[in-house]
Amino acid sequence: MKKICFALLILFSVKTFSQKFESLAPTPPMGWNSWNTFQTKISEQLVMETADMMVSSGMKDAGYVYLVLDDGWMAMERDSKTGDLIADPKKFPHGMKAVADYVHSKGLKFGLYNCAGTKTCAGYPGTRGYEYQDARLYASFEIDFLKFDWCYAEGINAKEAYTTMSKALRAAGRPMIFSLCDWGSNKPWQWAANVGQMWRTTGDISNVFDGIKDMGTWKANGVMMNADSQDTIGQYAGPGHWNDPDMLEIGNGMTMNEDRAHFSIWCIMAAPLIAGNDIRKMTKETNAILTNKNAIAIDQDTMGVEGFKVPNKDSVEVWIKPLSNDNWAICFFNRSSSQKQLQYSFKANAVGSAARKIQLQTNKNTYKILNVWTNKDAGTTAKDLNVPLASHDVLMLRLSK
Ligand code: GLA
Repeated sequence: MKKICFALLILFSVKTFSQKFESLAPTPPMGWNSWNTFQTKISEQLVMETADMMVSSGMKDAGYVYLVLDDGWMAMERDSKTGDLIADPKKFPHGMKAVADYVHSKGLKFGLYNCAGTKTCAGYPGTRGYEYQDARLYASFEIDFLKFDWCYAEGINAKEAYTTMSKALRAAGRPMIFSLCDWGSNKPWQWAANVGQMWRTTGDISNVFDGIKDMGTWKANGVMMNADSQDTIGQYAGPGHWNDPDMLEIGNGMTMNEDRAHFSIWCIMAAPLIAGNDIRKMTKETNAILTNKNAIAIDQDTMGVEGFKVPNKDSVEVWIKPLSNDNWAICFFNRSSSQKQLQYSFKANAVGSAARKIQLQTNKNTYKILNVWTNKDAGTTAKDLNVPLASHDVLMLRLSK
């Protein structure tokens, strides 16, 4: 009898332990990351001020709970005796555990960054060969999220390297979101659903809307370039494991229309929503985009289906995403450089993807319309659309029965 009880107890603990890891990201993770604005110029003070702002600006209430420090948090060398990573003592004089405690005291979660190679992209100590030791250190800091990059990884097999780190995190016993960042080079969507909760699908984003940004020694992608590259991989995302077309550039210098379009399309794509601006200084308009409840509800829909662009004749793109309870998001996006008159007949069109087996049949069903950005009731799909749409702006609608 005792033996049976013991076996049941073990079984129960293994199950609840693995459930802790399985349920980490039922919907796309939301938070803030330091990289897009600060690169390696980060500090304890920045974290504390950002954490405070995440709460007071309403970002936390809107769902942004992960505060993640990207590259640049470490000293240039590991501890010569223990081999442990060390937080840069100038930037983080009270150590990383104290920083994590502060973030947790605000009801937020805390994340860090490292790399599968021998160094991080900015040249700090990488994790190669130290996977289990680093995972234990992160667990001792009580972090909740690890972004794991792919620089200085020559000759390493990506699936093996990321799987090793994933196992090391589990062995350390503290549930952490594991965010793979190999820029899509090794097609993680094909093998990472049980390795981590999100994987980058592209090279680095920049605050250029539709084009590329010359960074001198390398070229960064424009926002829409990252969106385009999701075209054929949407079916790989779902609850617990998400395609990540990179962090948000909202509030980083593009126009309002472009910021709104960027956010709308990330929500349609069920992308992780990781703000990348200086939220201590954001304008009311930026805050309003980042915290729009209707748009976020589309991103966070529990069905977890990644939406996509459907073929359309003119340069107004049409993006759709099926939502729970036969609701749909449909986003008309004027990609051209001039204003367009958007004319669209719901009654004449069924749109979707045969390959994905997803069809929005407005030709057969009539839906009520909510305008996502104005939060206004906009009639039904019985009536055709005939409205002006500014350059790089969107008309995003939520359809319901
Ligand atoms: C890579 C990643 C970025 C960022 C930097 C840090 O380029 O793709 O998101 O983490 O490294 O050095």
